[in-house]
Amino acid sequence: MKLFIDTANIDEIKEAASWGILDGVTTNPSLIAKEGRDFQEVIKEIVEIVDGPISAEVIALDAEKMVEEGEELAKIHDNIVVKVPMTKEGLKATKIFSEKGIKVNVTLVFSANQALLAAKAGATYVSPFLGRVDDIGSTGMDLVEEIISIFNIHGYDTQTIAASIRHPLHVTDAALAGSHVSTVPFKVLKMMTDHPLTDIGIEKFLADWNEAF
Ligand code: E4P
Repeated sequence: MKLFIDTANIDEIKEAASWGILDGVTTNPSLIAKEGRDFQEVIKEIVEIVDGPISAEVIALDAEKMVEEGEELAKIHDNIVVKVPMTKEGLKATKIFSEKGIKVNVTLVFSANQALLAAKAGATYVSPFLGRVDDIGSTGMDLVEEIISIFNIHGYDTQTIAASIRHPLHVTDAALAGSHVSTVPFKVLKMMTDHPLTDIGIEKFLADWNEAF
């Protein structure tokens, strides 16, 4: 499973990239807004740090403007994946992008049928938001599993990005479900590295070493 980081924060991206585990980056308008910096400037910095798919989201709600914005974003670097919301207009734009050879991540996916439509329109990725499904009392991982099954049964090339990850168990479950990608906030990536028995083990090894030598 590929691991993307879900952030627009340059320090977080640099730190996670330095661990040698990063395959790509996803951003969204909220994450960009949090940084309080120029959108294109941030994306240009990210592509210099990570050599993998970098999702940059359009703001427009109609297909024509989505395509205009997406084409500008795609010009930044070959690794740019244009992120569009899962709407009828988003589907139209996805079809146009796919015909132009521009990669698309269809975001805000909350049902298997939405994922199916996105795949049919030519999406490279779909992003089911499993944490937000959990938040309203349903099981987000069921959605991820349904999408993966449908893509496998019907042979779609579209890849599933398990998104809206809230904790390390989400990542484990997404990997077990066969998700192509999980996009993970920095906080959760850090949590994934930690285990109290690892810390205790290191402490004991060093104590034994220092006692002997
Ligand atoms: C995915 O690409 C989104 O950026 C993200 O996972 C949304 O997560 P949230 O529900 O924590 O905002």
